Amino acid sequence: MVNNRKVLMLPGDGIGPEVMDQTKKVIDWFDKKLEVGFDLEEDLIGGASYDVHNVPVTEKVMEKAINSDGVLFGAVGGPDYDNLDFSDKPERALLKLRKELGLFANLRPAIVFDALADASSLKKDIVTGLDIMIIRELTGGIYFGEPRGIRNLSNGKREGINTEVYNTDEIIRLGEVAFELASIRRKLVHSVEKSNVMESGLLWREEIQKLYDEKYQGINLEHMYADNCAMQLVRDPHQFDVIVTTNLFGDLLSDISAQLTGSLGMLPSASLGEKSDEGYRKSLYEPVHGSAPDISGQGKANPIAMILSFSMMLRYSLERANDAVLIEKAVEMVLKNGFRTADIMQNGKTLVSTEQMGLEICKNLDKLESEGY
Ligand code: IPM
Ligand code: MG
Repeated sequence: MVNNRKVLMLPGDGIGPEVMDQTKKVIDWFDKKLEVGFDLEEDLIGGASYDVHNVPVTEKVMEKAINSDGVLFGAVGGPDYDNLDFSDKPERALLKLRKELGLFANLRPAIVFDALADASSLKKDIVTGLDIMIIRELTGGIYFGEPRGIRNLSNGKREGINTEVYNTDEIIRLGEVAFELASIRRKLVHSVEKSNVMESGLLWREEIQKLYDEKYQGINLEHMYADNCAMQLVRDPHQFDVIVTTNLFGDLLSDISAQLTGSLGMLPSASLGEKSDEGYRKSLYEPVHGSAPDISGQGKANPIAMILSFSMMLRYSLERANDAVLIEKAVEMVLKNGFRTADIMQNGKTLVSTEQMGLEICKNLDKLESEGY
């Protein structure tokens, strides 16, 4: 008998719980249909954890995350927590999970669904059919580098310090993920840094080039400066297949590529760790959109990014690529049928709530199943 897969759900703050509720419906749908079910556990993270435990993530939750087959993460943060110390802020929970689970590779796909090509703030022909994968380094660079802090100077003024630092191993293990993924896509990798002004960027470029020369000559490799990449992403995004870049630049560039697709509410992500001897990677799946406190509790949030994050979990952690495709198809059908949450609403379409969107996706899963998919 096959064991159930252990999934830890951490809905978090803001719209996190609302979009997670709809994802639960999709998980339940698969739970009923599949021979392999899911053992779902749920716990607090971010501000929700701080309110109860005075910390953004407890050690118990860290342990559960480490022992799960995958973490489904909603969103953290909100105005109530803006004035906390850095160490208590909700965002710390996410950074700690990424760091302690060793989730160094962050996969952020930006796919434009045909039905939504009009929803982008860019012209339709620039984004139609777009399919980019940004691979962001997630456990190093300036978000973690030492020294860091704010210190008082002798002249009574202050100084804020963060450090960008990368070593060979960090660059190479990420580069490998990028080249491997490109090899099953369109075989093109853009490595993005600022080697014209940063030594860490120069090392990045050299190590990626070396890795390429040694192992991946069947792929096409281009190097690009991060500022140029930002510009090229809005000028002609079709030139990209896989973009591999640092933590900071990946944070920025993935928000840009998100907007190409029409809404942050559409974008899932996967964060993966090193392969274990048994071939498994630790993993965390989360929507790119964040907690959106301005619309939370109003039924306006788009649950698609969270639901697609679950589909990434099926693909990258649970070896169920066919089921991942099924979810993607169902999402496409719902969009084709004209259902829209507020963030992607267009003239002549049907505005639906978070919950209705979840129900529509499940209905289309039923439909696909009855058609023999
Ligand atoms: C993201 C977010 C996070 C980050 C925050 C919430 C810590 O912006 O996942 O892109 O900066 O990495
Ligand atoms: Mg970000």
